[in-house]
Amino acid sequence: MNTVQNPTTTSLFLRAAWGEDTPHAPIWLMRQAGRYLPEYRAIKEKASFWEMVRTPELAAEITLQPLQRFPLDAAILFSDIMTPLPAMGVEIAFSPGPVVAQPLRSLAQIEALQLPPGEEIAPFVAEALKQVRRALAGREVATIGFAGAPLTLATYLIEGAGSKDYEVFRAFLRQEPSAAHRLLEKLTELTLRYLKMQIAAGAQAVQLFDSWAGLHDARTYRTFGLPYNRAVLEGLAGLSVPRLYLAVGASHLYPTLAELPCEAISVDWRVPLNEIRPLWPGRTLQGNLDPTTLLAPPEVITREALQVLRAGRGGPHIFNLGHGVLRTTPPEHVAHLVEVVHQYNRHQEEPA
Ligand code: CP3
Repeated sequence: MNTVQNPTTTSLFLRAAWGEDTPHAPIWLMRQAGRYLPEYRAIKEKASFWEMVRTPELAAEITLQPLQRFPLDAAILFSDIMTPLPAMGVEIAFSPGPVVAQPLRSLAQIEALQLPPGEEIAPFVAEALKQVRRALAGREVATIGFAGAPLTLATYLIEGAGSKDYEVFRAFLRQEPSAAHRLLEKLTELTLRYLKMQIAAGAQAVQLFDSWAGLHDARTYRTFGLPYNRAVLEGLAGLSVPRLYLAVGASHLYPTLAELPCEAISVDWRVPLNEIRPLWPGRTLQGNLDPTTLLAPPEVITREALQVLRAGRGGPHIFNLGHGVLRTTPPEHVAHLVEVVHQYNRHQEEPA
């Protein structure tokens, strides 16, 4: 969308995020910090998930763990999409996915949600980001901040926990549309304040995770997703950070997603990048290796990664998985993938 906003950066990730068709694709992986790393599991033995997220030293250390092993081009803050919600007055546990103590089912509960100023939402996140930036000073590794998209946060708040089809939530949108809109408005404001705070604390790019957008048909997404995502993303325009947006299982929404004001779209593994490039001319595509590929032997990883790299040619590309790293992934397979991606020259002619 914009190739000149940040012309001075030498970070491969930021250059590609701003729309430069770089000769090598930068790479980072969703959930690159986490349970597949023994050093993460070691910390987890001593601290609960919330303790890890809320202790800046731990969150920063976990964020940096994958960077110590692999020459990745970006660090994503170790946290969760649910992190800002307790500041609204919602109690959340992890088991291992989020569990909401009292799922929201009424307008009265929604009206009672608080909207604190950005600095009060999660001060530990600001501190963790500052520590990560300090630790990465002098390295060309960009620091990514993130938040859940309003529709995906509302999914958990109303359903109460992970589910296969989120039937309670989808029924709520139909039965209580005005309560749903009120909740989405509040989540939009919270998310905007939270992301601005992260940018002020040093986040150099932001990703909006709309993991459950794909549950909905395009008309429902247009009503309950698109306007709120647009408000969040527009609210970040002019802050000199590229905006990335991820939806999973959402290929039926791709034409609609093209209306979002963001620099990059993260694509899951279901659709080859070359097929969707025409929908987002000039914009950066991020993705989209199937995460299960990393369970296979190195030669399979090489073959599949090259397919993604080839499909990503013809425009700016940030290499990533189509969704998060799986818990059973051998770390040495990640190392191999990073090497394959960095060695590939996107501008060199390919043998026919
Ligand atoms: O490395 C990174 O990508 C940064 C850390 C990160 C986590 N969660 C850590 C985490 C990020 C970016 C998230 C976002 C997140 N959280 C999303 C959006 C991305 C996606 O996967 O679609 C969603 C839907 C959640 C909600 C959530 N949190 C789930 C479903 C789970 C449990 C299952 C799982 O996937 O691990 C969590 C807990 C969670 N968040 C863990 C981690 C490392 C696992 C905690 C543990 O170690 O048991």
